[in-house]
Amino acid sequence: MSPSTLTTSTGQPVDNNQTSLTAGPDGPLLLADTHFIDKITHFDRERIPERVVHAKGAGAHGVFECTRDMSDLTRAGFLGSVGKRTPIFTRFSTVGGESGSADTARDPRGFAVRWYTEEGNYDCVGNNTPVFFIRDPLKFPDFIHTQKRNPQTHLKDADMFWDFISLVPESLHQVTILFSDRGTPDGYRHMHGYGSHTFKLVDDKGRFKYFKWHFRTNQGVKNLTAQGANQLAGENPDYATQDLFNAIDRQDFPSWTCYMQIMDEAQAAKCRWNIFDVTKVWPQKEYPLIEVGKMTLDRNPDNYFAEVEQVAFSPANLVPGIDASYDRMLQGRLFSYPDTHRHRLGPNFNQIPINVPRNHLPANHQRDGLMAVRGNGGSAPNYEPSSFGGPVQTNELGVTYSIQAVTGTVGRHTYPLTDDDFVQPGNLYRLLSDEQKQHLIANIVGHLKDAKKFIQERQVGHFKRADPEYGSRVAAGLKAAAANM
Ligand code: HEM
Repeated sequence: MSPSTLTTSTGQPVDNNQTSLTAGPDGPLLLADTHFIDKITHFDRERIPERVVHAKGAGAHGVFECTRDMSDLTRAGFLGSVGKRTPIFTRFSTVGGESGSADTARDPRGFAVRWYTEEGNYDCVGNNTPVFFIRDPLKFPDFIHTQKRNPQTHLKDADMFWDFISLVPESLHQVTILFSDRGTPDGYRHMHGYGSHTFKLVDDKGRFKYFKWHFRTNQGVKNLTAQGANQLAGENPDYATQDLFNAIDRQDFPSWTCYMQIMDEAQAAKCRWNIFDVTKVWPQKEYPLIEVGKMTLDRNPDNYFAEVEQVAFSPANLVPGIDASYDRMLQGRLFSYPDTHRHRLGPNFNQIPINVPRNHLPANHQRDGLMAVRGNGGSAPNYEPSSFGGPVQTNELGVTYSIQAVTGTVGRHTYPLTDDDFVQPGNLYRLLSDEQKQHLIANIVGHLKDAKKFIQERQVGHFKRADPEYGSRVAAGLKAAAANM
């Protein structure tokens, strides 16, 4: 059989791929048409569940080059020597829309980076914003429901959106970013990325310092106006996907310079902000950006489904030398991502090529399950301890966790209600230029006007608390919009 022969999925040659087998020229189809059945049943199963959030996205391969030796602070090898190069895969996405939705929707953008390190996969699953809407993972499903469709009308719903936001004022910082022009970036190449949470750099004694990731675009920040974004949503809903693919295809490789903000435990104890609260930033004047590397995207995926759709990023993918902090949101995410991957891709999602670590095959005693397609451990022992060989633990300190004391009583400890949630959004508002302020107000009014009056009033109260001018301008805009309705 020639290598160009069309075959069924079990390798038999296909004699005719154009005409089904029928009983006579005008008769019904035959169950004996095994090629038809093979083809159509596979087609019937082509779709897998889309990501419950961040369903629309684009990805690319690349390389991370370490530009600063961080080995005094972390035992992570990919940060251990200047010039060290590590392969990466990234995926950028919108959050709330379905997999066919417009790339230019007002939404945070996902900014997920995977390093295929010599000690396993390390993922930073961040956004293009340094903060988030909520700070407790128990709120996440409710929050996301308000960003999706109304359960009855199946429409996006301004009441749901603003009702939740106005009842959860810790969201104000992220809402201010979202409704600024940063809420509609001009494609994926022209935006910064952030790990958002506080993480830990851990040395080989298990000692740690806190850090945050910043990825600053070398293409320059470019945003779309609301009008430009809306127009593109109609004319080219895949604008950002196309822009990324075409840039890499023409060898105009996008890159980001990678920085860290670093803080020790003593500084964290004295910090004005709770460093585990992902609705807050660390002021860069006090905690400057330290350059640690550069990431460049230089290869498009060969196959979208195999690579971009099946990649399973997870904040739980940590390597020795990097640990999660006790940020509650991050702690919740450590569980949620592998859980959703088991649902979306099956229990052996880490055997899908894009997810397989490049150091060596995972060496453990997990066996069987749906789609155990990588040899399943062959004839090696499937238990440990064992007298018959097989992989064993390293006993190295700090390999999987940092050493930190925790105290206190078990409880549902809420954050104290203070003015804290209004200070950083107010500072951000005051930093904006006149034009940026004008866009922010217009973007908020354009959306909030569709919510019920009592919701509008509650939300205006929050804007006022951040900055009286901010609130008054939104209120005036809403009044003018109501007069024109
Ligand atoms: C995707 C849960 C907060 C960034 C996802 C997915 C889930 C999820 C279930 C789908 C994953 C998949 O099917 O592959 C949560 C929960 C959160 C949370 C429970 C809070 C408790 C955040 C935050 C950020 C973030 C704070 C950014 C700082 C992302 C990104 C993706 C994603 C970038 C897409 C990853 C990809 O490209 O495949 N999230 N998320 N999420 N999330 Fe979150």
